[in-house]
Amino acid sequence: MCASALPLCLLLWTVVSRAQVKVNAPSSLIAEAGYPLTFGCNITTSAGETVRQVRWLNSQNTVVLAYEQSVPLRISRQDPGVQLFVHFNNASYMTIKKVQPEDEGCYSCVFDIFPTGSQKGKTCITVTGKVHLEGNKTAISGKPVTLSCLYSFPEKVQQVLWRKTAEQGDTTKVASYAKRGHHNIQQPFRGRVSLSRTLDDSQLTIQPVRTEDEACYTCEFHTFPDGTRSATACLSVYVLPKPEVTYVTSPSGVTEANCTAQSRPAAQITWNVGGDNRTLGPPISSEYDQGDGTTIVTSTLSFQSGLLSDMLVKCIVRHRGLEKPLSVSLYTDMGPAMVILLSVCGVAAVLLLCLCVCLCKCFVCTDD
Ligand SMILES: *[C@@H]1O[C@H](CO)[C@@H](O)[C@H](O)[C@H]1NC(C)=O
Ligand SMILES: *[C@@H]1O[C@H](CO)[C@@H](O)[C@H](O)[C@H]1NC(C)=O
Ligand SMILES: *[C@@H]1O[C@H](CO)[C@@H](O)[C@H](O)[C@H]1NC(C)=O
Ligand SMILES: *[C@@H]1O[C@H](CO)[C@@H](O)[C@H](O)[C@H]1NC(C)=O
Ligand SMILES: *[C@@H]1O[C@H](CO)[C@@H](O)[C@H](O)[C@H]1NC(C)=O
Repeated sequence: MCASALPLCLLLWTVVSRAQVKVNAPSSLIAEAGYPLTFGCNITTSAGETVRQVRWLNSQNTVVLAYEQSVPLRISRQDPGVQLFVHFNNASYMTIKKVQPEDEGCYSCVFDIFPTGSQKGKTCITVTGKVHLEGNKTAISGKPVTLSCLYSFPEKVQQVLWRKTAEQGDTTKVASYAKRGHHNIQQPFRGRVSLSRTLDDSQLTIQPVRTEDEACYTCEFHTFPDGTRSATACLSVYVLPKPEVTYVTSPSGVTEANCTAQSRPAAQITWNVGGDNRTLGPPISSEYDQGDGTTIVTSTLSFQSGLLSDMLVKCIVRHRGLEKPLSVSLYTDMGPAMVILLSVCGVAAVLLLCLCVCLCKCFVCTDD
């Protein structure tokens, strides 16, 4: 009896062992919640074998996708959350459109082969969450700034906590919001810092931004059961320059002009004299660190006073926080000339009005 069963056993064994090597699929994958995931299986078929149908099963052994390898392809079953990514005679790739926590588990691809039967491959998927924080940011002093951080598994979040790490390395808590509605802003930040009452997209707003807010900020999601997940981004705070020019002309006919800009970081000052050769040497620059994190840059240019009347001299200020360089002409204090011009115009207008009245009166007289 045993002897007669032996060939059958051998046959079965070869079929089984061949089955084990036939389908090629990754054994495990890590997927990020909220994002699509594509995975597939390969099969090596022997001559005379044809794949008639391919089925994809989820961890509950429910068919989520099935199709017949006919031309055209006939999809007999497709769950809304999945789609066939690509298929060949010997391969099938499926996409989970948006991975959800409940998609975790082992998926099987089943190739129904004629005439040998079914072959199966298995891939186990672990779903994780990830923290998304925009990269480093710059803010303009006095303006508001919002740092936005999200975790792709909001339903697992118990608490979100923001920390600030100053350049010197000391870390302080800034604000937190917990699932049960507990909302807290630490004392030194109260009034200027606000935190959204959300666990999916946490937004920390600083308004108005001050130079001391320049630091790295970490958003920490305390999740269950994934543990603590965090991300860090750094904030640079700029103070934009408001350049000013002043000048004095000596009796000897030399003008000394200063262009001054206070900013953070230090501005870069150059002069534009339209290529004129009446300047007396290159400009001299000096920087003074103010205690408040800003720097005052002064550039001094000396030139022959004749250059002044040509309206050529301009101070050009460049700063990382500015889209375009600022240009200040030395003729910003053209006051007296403008006053004279305006007075002349005003007098002319009054005279014209008088003339009109006179003429009108004359006509009225003639009418009478
Ligand atoms: C399918 O086979 C190709 C090579 O034949 C291989 O590069 C690919 O990784 C395989 N895909 C899977 C899902 O096993
Ligand atoms: C799948 O079939 C193509 C030809 O149709 C072949 O080039 C390829 O090597 C096959 N891949 C596997 C894994 O059998
Ligand atoms: C962000 O800024 C920090 C400190 O200024 C720096 O170490 C880090 O490399 C920056 N990251 C990016 C992505 O630029
Ligand atoms: C220009 O600045 C220097 C010092 O930075 C100062 O001594 C000088 O009086 C200034 N000149 C004018 C015209 O403001
Ligand atoms: C400056 O330029 C003028 C013409 O624009 C020229 O006549 C004069 O010689 C130049 N002076 C010097 C010192 O190069």
